[in-house]
Amino acid sequence: MAKTAQLILDGKTYELPIVEGTENEVGIDIGELLEKTGAITLDLGYKNTGATKSAITFLDGDKGILRYRGYSIEDLAAKSSFLEVAYLLIFGDLPKKDQLSTFTNDIKTHTLVHEDIKKILDGFPSTSHPMGVLASLFCAQTAFYPEALDPNRSGEGVYLSIVRSLAKMPTFAAWAYKNAVGHPVNYPDNSLDYCSRFLKMLYALPAEQFEVDPVVADALDKLLILHADHEQNCSTSTVRIVGSSKASIYSSISAGINALWGPLHGGANQEVILMLEQIKKDGGDTEKWINKAKDKNSGFRLMGFGHRVYKNFDPRAKIIKKAADDVLKKLGVNDPVLEIAIKLEEVALRDPYFIERKLYPNVDFYSGIIYRALGIPVDMFTVMFAIGRLPGWIAQWKEMRENKEPIGRPRQIYVGQKLRPYVEMSKR
Ligand code: MLT
Repeated sequence: MAKTAQLILDGKTYELPIVEGTENEVGIDIGELLEKTGAITLDLGYKNTGATKSAITFLDGDKGILRYRGYSIEDLAAKSSFLEVAYLLIFGDLPKKDQLSTFTNDIKTHTLVHEDIKKILDGFPSTSHPMGVLASLFCAQTAFYPEALDPNRSGEGVYLSIVRSLAKMPTFAAWAYKNAVGHPVNYPDNSLDYCSRFLKMLYALPAEQFEVDPVVADALDKLLILHADHEQNCSTSTVRIVGSSKASIYSSISAGINALWGPLHGGANQEVILMLEQIKKDGGDTEKWINKAKDKNSGFRLMGFGHRVYKNFDPRAKIIKKAADDVLKKLGVNDPVLEIAIKLEEVALRDPYFIERKLYPNVDFYSGIIYRALGIPVDMFTVMFAIGRLPGWIAQWKEMRENKEPIGRPRQIYVGQKLRPYVEMSKR
């Protein structure tokens, strides 16, 4: 017999269907709640609300498990490449050799952006944060490829938009940075792999013979894999809800980039480094700042510790910590800010206050450190996250469309004024 949950409202019992996922997660289906009972649910921040049924990413926050399409994040980070993971997320299975090679070549074909994009870029002052520029350039693709506005676009058309998105993202990202530093932009070098191509566009100076360090490119590839999807987080939910209005893939993802920008989401990695710099400037006494973090009245919050859904540890953080150690060693990086990070991590991991509250370093803590070691400028940290998250946004947008999900339209409990008569200006 199908399982149900019972809801008693005003003495009347309602049977609500139960939905079970492949990993035995249980959801109470309230799809007909309003119609049947006249009531809605209230769940600020949607922390108890499943917004969709998805086959892309499985996450168990209690056990610290993260899987893309059934493959563990540990295996993918150790054995796969970013474009292979992108293919997996978007199309559902690991690619065969020829499939990956076609996908990679299709992406290479579209790395160049329209020259008029440069005119848009020129309109941004160098004070513009690269995330704002990235979101704008990404959305500007709707002007260059208006066919993507067709809400019924499918098959080859959607594939082309996906390939264009993955191909042009690193170009937009590097150009957003060049704009911030006032340097001329670099064009994509298609003889290079995805990460090396981006790094060359980011760093190379005019007429410079620029060689990408393979240690840096490999570390970046791993970081992008670790960020590629994270089920219904703030930016992904944004992409799905914007896409549910049948807005184009470019505008939906541009909205996701804006959602990611906030310091409580993707912007957290930038906040981590700013915090470490603040501690260094103050003399580097980590105990003092740990005590401040414990004092509710200090207004100071330890950035990059704890996570909304992981109650044990962030599995990505474990992998990234090891990667950070390897990269720091290989590159021979000696940076006082990184030393503060290591001290802070040590103190927090043995302090009962942090242990009891499950405030362990999360992915943003280590990604900030590793990006700094790789020489990525601080304002670009969240942009790096966006490059990594792109396949996840695409996969979730595609799934939402293929499932023919209805337009997202939450309800509310109104707590404002009741009807009152209009008061003339002279009488207010
Ligand atoms: C993410 O990867 O999106 C972040 O860890 C935030 C989240 O999942 O809520």
